[in-house]
Amino acid sequence: MRAAVVTRYGSPDVVTVCDAPKPAPAAGEVLIRVHAATVNRSDCGELQPRVIGRLLFGLRRPRRTIFGMDVAGVVEAVGAGVMAFKPGDRVFGMCPFRTNGAHAEYVCIAETGPIGLMPAHTPFADAVVCEGAYYADSGLKKFRVGPGHRILIYGASGAIGSAAVQLAKAYGAHVTAVVATRHLELARSLGADRVVDYTAEDFSRIGERFDFVLEAVGKTSFWRYRRLLKPEGTFMATDMGPWGQYLPLLLWSAIAKNNRVVVPLPPRGGGHAFVAFLKARMEAGQFRGVIDRSYPLDAIAEAYRYVETGQKAAIVVIEVAADDQP
Ligand SMILES: NC(=O)c1ccc[n+]([C@@H]2O[C@H](COP(=O)([O-])OP(=O)(O)OC[C@H]3O[C@@H](n4cnc5c(N)ncnc54)[C@H](OP(=O)(O)O)[C@@H]3O)[C@@H](O)[C@H]2O)c1
Repeated sequence: MRAAVVTRYGSPDVVTVCDAPKPAPAAGEVLIRVHAATVNRSDCGELQPRVIGRLLFGLRRPRRTIFGMDVAGVVEAVGAGVMAFKPGDRVFGMCPFRTNGAHAEYVCIAETGPIGLMPAHTPFADAVVCEGAYYADSGLKKFRVGPGHRILIYGASGAIGSAAVQLAKAYGAHVTAVVATRHLELARSLGADRVVDYTAEDFSRIGERFDFVLEAVGKTSFWRYRRLLKPEGTFMATDMGPWGQYLPLLLWSAIAKNNRVVVPLPPRGGGHAFVAFLKARMEAGQFRGVIDRSYPLDAIAEAYRYVETGQKAAIVVIEVAADDQP
């Protein structure tokens, strides 16, 4: 099969599209013919990990050689004992870090893993949305966002931010989205009640306080958010921030047990249920994938270069095989 193979850490130049062995499903696994995948920030982090990343991905070289978190495709075969899926099923979800990912024509995933049947009438390219949404939803659940809450989402055009806007609206919250001028319309179309253009005004002085602030970019000092939080409000960051500055704040918050600063850690083993939850939101018209750009598998290094700029909106799709559904 064709696959984007990574045998050493480095720039996108180390990603090589070549022939690789086609995997076979073990007991309890499904073999998926991949139609669409993405390059996201996690893939970029895996390509050039820092110290903590290397503990996770492999100290000297990557433990797995095919990356790719988000996946959508068709079940081609199932291993012994698989009950939930059959060949021909259209499926979507996420590839666990420990095994090879979706930057290839085929991938194997456990039937109990983070996969599920595709939402009805959805092209594969619109379904590779799970990872950003999983982080976003884990954050919103930690906030216990609900009707009556006011939430500010900084970076509302990114993979996590755009998902957070839609899911927070589905939970009934009032959403203020902070984006650059070019993404104002996008944020409105996702359902944001108020949009703030951080290139035109100081978002930290918009004259409002929030129950929750979700920082989904990782480039701004915490002190700019202080004025935006209600006295009991919670701040959540998807990244450790400039110079890792959110880390001591997190430790302080954990030691003081005041829940002021938190991170959106998805629950262990919660992926399968989350994919089913997202399918329901998509079928209810409460969630849609926002595609920034698409690249063929052969041009995946270009996709990495674009995502590394930190300026993509929502998802960057890798088209692995044509979508034959009209
Ligand atoms: N996606 C994942 O799977 C994942 C997982 C774990 C952690 N993270 C971390 O979470 C953060 C967000 O990830 P993501 O995937 O949602 O990011 P993303 O899709 O790459 O989001 C990028 C967005 O950030 C905005 N942005 C860029 N520079 C900015 C700046 N200087 N000030 C304000 N906004 C800026 C841009 O929107 P505007 O043009 O509208 O400003 C852009 O659309 C990253 O730090 C990432 O490392 C991501």
